[in-house]
Amino acid sequence: MEPNAPKSTKPITDKPSVKAPNKKLLTVIIAVLIAIGCIALVFALYTIFIKGTSQTQTTSKKEVNALTIYHWWTSAGEAAAVASLVDGFSKLYPDVAIMSAPVKSGNVDFHEKVLKPMVFNNEAPDSFQGHPGYEIKPYYDSGTLEIVGDIWQSENLETIIPKAIQDVNKFKGDYYSIPIGVHRGNVVWYNKSVLTKAGIDATKLTDWDSFFKACDTLKANGVTYPIQMGEAWTQAHVFESIMASGGSELYQDLANGKITSSTDARVIQAFETFKKFLTYTNTDSAKTSWNDAVGRVIKGESAFNVMGDWANGEFKIVGMKYNKDYGSFALPGTGDIFVLNVDTFVQPKGTAHPTNSIKWLKYLASREGQDAFNPKKGSISARTDTDISKYDDYQKSAITDFKSAKHYLPSRGTSLPDKFVNDFVTIVSDFVSDKNVTKAAQALGDLTLREQATFITTWSF
Ligand code: GAL
Repeated sequence: MEPNAPKSTKPITDKPSVKAPNKKLLTVIIAVLIAIGCIALVFALYTIFIKGTSQTQTTSKKEVNALTIYHWWTSAGEAAAVASLVDGFSKLYPDVAIMSAPVKSGNVDFHEKVLKPMVFNNEAPDSFQGHPGYEIKPYYDSGTLEIVGDIWQSENLETIIPKAIQDVNKFKGDYYSIPIGVHRGNVVWYNKSVLTKAGIDATKLTDWDSFFKACDTLKANGVTYPIQMGEAWTQAHVFESIMASGGSELYQDLANGKITSSTDARVIQAFETFKKFLTYTNTDSAKTSWNDAVGRVIKGESAFNVMGDWANGEFKIVGMKYNKDYGSFALPGTGDIFVLNVDTFVQPKGTAHPTNSIKWLKYLASREGQDAFNPKKGSISARTDTDISKYDDYQKSAITDFKSAKHYLPSRGTSLPDKFVNDFVTIVSDFVSDKNVTKAAQALGDLTLREQATFITTWSF
């Protein structure tokens, strides 16, 4: 037999008697297989669509227990303050995964380049920082902010937060933000040993003449730049404080869009004072951050820095003691004025974790939250029931000054239209370069006229 020869030569079709019972068996097998297949399919579909969904739900339930917050607090003192706040929140809500996103930017870029694109593209974080009033108005105008009046009510905030701070957190009578702390803007900071070496008594520097005289003495004692100043927004900050030193009426006119004349003697005077001030400042201010400018005072390279009391946080974090190593006084002419720099958080609409953003806002409104944050930030609590033992001597004096102030002047982020502020900063930084008083006064008048329609609040300071 050839190896590949079939064992039988009979064709398969020639075996019907054998085939009939096999066909039945085959049908049964196929039916059984189909049945098994159907059961398997049903099971698979169940696993994918029913069980799978519930698994996804379980996972996403875990995922939704998160909180994302954005802020621009990146200096050493600021970072320590926000870490302390986040820590306090995490202790209260250990299950919430908190993502604190610091954006190194300053408030203008923070809103223009980061937050507005996110919020206006429905990608808002659960909460973000901002100055109340005009600065956060674009979000209010676009209907992207939640009203947070319920929080003010449930936490009894109106009974514990002073009226001046309540007011700036409202648009048309409704609350849209929760304050985390109150900074004073019009403060001169100094390195005590630099002044002592030059024989200067800081308590005497209450008017511009004595302040500038002290700067001359420092120069004569080899301090090349008695005053440190930083980048554009900090220059505008100095000029804003100088405007405050021209009196609350002048500041009020600025905020109410009334400075339309290029020959307003009060404005000319303010620029003249600033011009004199600039004869004592470092020449690299445009590229110096606010905290580097403070850092040079800390190191004793310069004596003074005009800055909001977030500067206090920088002195503290390096271990300096108020009234021993460093000190402060109100900018000349602003003793009874408190330039109010309130920091707030908001709740954007349609965020991923609204329940957690409400928890966050309630926590930062609480006594514990405020007292976790402000002692490190350099500021004072927005609440009147603060645990004073947690605050340093500067902050204790700021609490007294806040209580006794005659005028509360909200700083530019709150009191001036946002587009106006951007151009105001440019006018001031141009002035720092060209020191042209006439040109600057003209530019300010023109700007106010141009932006007149955007001044929609009538302030009364
Ligand atoms: C201010 C803000 C302060 C501080 C400062 C410097 O606008 O209100 O909290 O952070 O900027 O970053």
